[in-house]
Amino acid sequence: MGKTLIVYYSWVGNTATVAREIQAQTGFTLRAIEEKKTRKPGAYAGAAMAGFFGIGGAIRPMDFSMAEYDQILLGVQIWAGHAPPAVLHFIRQAELSGKKVWLFITKADDHVPQPFLDGLVKRIEKRGGTVAGHFSVKTKMDTIIPVENFREDLTAWLAAQGFVEAATIAEQENP
Ligand SMILES: Cc1cc2nc3c(=O)[nH]c(=O)nc-3n(C[C@H](O)[C@H](O)[C@H](O)COP(=O)(O)O)c2cc1C
Repeated sequence: MGKTLIVYYSWVGNTATVAREIQAQTGFTLRAIEEKKTRKPGAYAGAAMAGFFGIGGAIRPMDFSMAEYDQILLGVQIWAGHAPPAVLHFIRQAELSGKKVWLFITKADDHVPQPFLDGLVKRIEKRGGTVAGHFSVKTKMDTIIPVENFREDLTAWLAAQGFVEAATIAEQENP
């Protein structure tokens, strides 16, 4: 396996929580996508509009070179059925030729809608990348998910993708 990067966008903090747990379990480099303009906490209507219409969300320059990595774990959430504009900006400017991308998704609903997934896959493929799999976590609006709610499932998924040893799971079950 080559070098892997975890990169995510998070407004409220749930996707950041999942990203940090992936980092804790794998040791991979972790980077946040940040919007140039700070989004006002609780300004949900504006964010929903931005998500639905894909407007705004220009991002700050990232302090890493994508060329260094050949596997990307990309953290995203659902805004009004769509990926936040910041993530779309990130993908649009990312050089993903020959890279494998795994998505980790947080959302308030039970399921990830297929059109949401298909849309992201299409955008990533347009940049030359291949989506190799995805993992999703159900969160609640306004609160940050406790790590305990998803840790075991995440470890199992990371092991299934070959990112962590299956032994980590046994260790969690029999500490
Ligand atoms: C503006 C807005 C729109 C949202 N729309 C959806 C949606 O369409 N479907 C869904 O399952 N969750 C939706 N959610 C819930 C978020 O996807 C979920 O809370 C996610 O974990 C937030 O990520 P973050 O904490 O990293 O910002 C929405 C949240 C916000 C703030």
